[in-house]
Parts: sequence; structure tokens; C-alpha cells
Amino acid sequence: MNLLDGKKAAQAIKDELKIDVAQLVSEGKKIPHLVAVLMGNDGASETYVAAKVKACDEVGFKSTLFRFTKNEPANRLFEKIHELNHDPDVDGILVQLPLPGHIDEKQIIDAIDPDKDVDGFHPVSVGKMVQGLPSFVAATPLGIMLLIKHYNIETKGKHAVVVGRSNIVGRPISILLNNNTNPGNCTVTVCHSKTTDIQSICLQADIIIAAIGKAKFITADMVKEGAVVIDVGITRVPDDSKKRGYRLQGDVDFENVAPKCSWITPVPGGVGPMTIAALLQNTFQSCTEKN
Ligand code: GUN
Repeated sequence: MNLLDGKKAAQAIKDELKIDVAQLVSEGKKIPHLVAVLMGNDGASETYVAAKVKACDEVGFKSTLFRFTKNEPANRLFEKIHELNHDPDVDGILVQLPLPGHIDEKQIIDAIDPDKDVDGFHPVSVGKMVQGLPSFVAATPLGIMLLIKHYNIETKGKHAVVVGRSNIVGRPISILLNNNTNPGNCTVTVCHSKTTDIQSICLQADIIIAAIGKAKFITADMVKEGAVVIDVGITRVPDDSKKRGYRLQGDVDFENVAPKCSWITPVPGGVGPMTIAALLQNTFQSCTEKN
């Protein structure tokens, strides 16, 4: 069993970006600028946004965080997005989700200029990705693809089973793995909550992407010997031994599944760090394409 170490792979991508930013600076060119918009004070969202801002600092990007209170009316958010869409200094706009209940998330995402949609959630970005055209790809599926690439995992002709069909992970990663690219060219099966006999389908998988959001859902009796297992789950489970009172638990029963795998991601330290590296890569791409 080998570990797909997301921390190491993400660091390698950040090191490359650092060099690329230094090159832009030396040529007197504009450096990438990511703007994050955070509404309310959800604990997990605060943590994610802080990590994104810190990562921008690490690689030499400019970043700005705009905060809105949780009761702010929707029009204030629309005004801000409109302003950012038209600000030539802004390369990427990220509205941290989830948003408070009175805000229509879809309308907010639709309001972002697709050319600055570094989160890859806009229907234009998703449509391009589905057609195999260059586009911003959402951070988690792109991070998984970058991790597979970093470790030179062979995907061509393999059977990938994606467990979960969410718009931000399951569905897009199923498209990317199926595209005529490298990595890619998999035969893909997508399982979901209504799938009958997930176990027999998973047992046929050369590659399992576990993105169902249920702690330890993938057990050893669902995994073929030699499979590659990528765990997207980050369920918070109570743990008194931790200072913060919880630990992050993946969708895979790591302890029992790992011995059967050729490659497996740990949780934490697998897909998580890769999502930030992917967001940075999208922001860099947005900046250099426009300037
Ligand atoms: N909430 C959970 N994941 C994400 C993400 O990738 N982007 C944004 N904007 N919000 C999120």
C-alpha cells in the first residue's frame, strides 16, 4: 500500500506557482488576485476561507476578503459581485458556500463573471468541462485529478467507481475521469443513495472515488485487491482526545481498507490540501489568460 500524500503534492504545486509568480514580478506583470466573499460566521467556512487566504500569501498572490453579516440583504452581495466582475485587478471571485437561507446560491453563482469563476461552479464553466473544453474546474475534482497526475497513476481503460453524485464532487469527477485526457479515459460508474448493491459495483472498481459524505461508508469487503482509493469525505466526529473536540473522518474505513489498496489517500492530508492547490492554479490561469 502506498499513500497518495496530498500535502506533499499540494506543496509541489505551490512551489511551482511561487516560481511562476516570481517570474511575473520580474517581468513587471500583474500578480494574481483572489477575492473571497464570506457571509455569516459558520465555523467550517471561516476555517476554509482562512486557509485559502493563507495559501495565496504563501505563493505570492494578492488576496482580499470581504465579509458580510449573516442577515445582509441579497442585493448587497449582488452589488459586490458586480463591482468585482468589473474590477480589472480581480482575477478570481470565490463566494464561500453555504450561504444563509435567505440567499439563493444559484443566483449568486450565476452572477459571477465566468471568466473569474475560479471555483468552477458557474453553469458556463460546468458546460465547458462537460464538453471537454478548457474551463475552470471546481477545486475538489481538479485537486483529485492533480493528485492522480502527481503520482502518475494509470487511469486509461480503468474502471472508476464514483460513490456520490453531488454537483461539486461526484458528478464533475465522473466527467473528468471519463474525458479523453490523461489522466482520464476511464470507464466510469456513478453510484448514489438509490443504487442497488453498491458493494458488487465497488468490487469491480480499479479506482474508487468516495464522495458520499458518510463516515467509513467504504469498508474492506467493498474493495478489490490492488484498487486505488481516493477519499473525499471529511465528516466531523466527536473526539475528546482532540483539543477542538472532533476529528475528521473520511468516507473510507482506512484502517481496514488500506492493506488491500495499491494507493490510498489519508484523511486528513489527502484530497483536502489538493483543493487549495487547485484553486490557486485556477486563479493563476485566470490572471495570465487576461493579462
Ligand atoms: N464550500 C465547500 N467547498 C467549497 C468550495 O470549494 N468553494 C466554495 N466557494 N465554497 C465551498
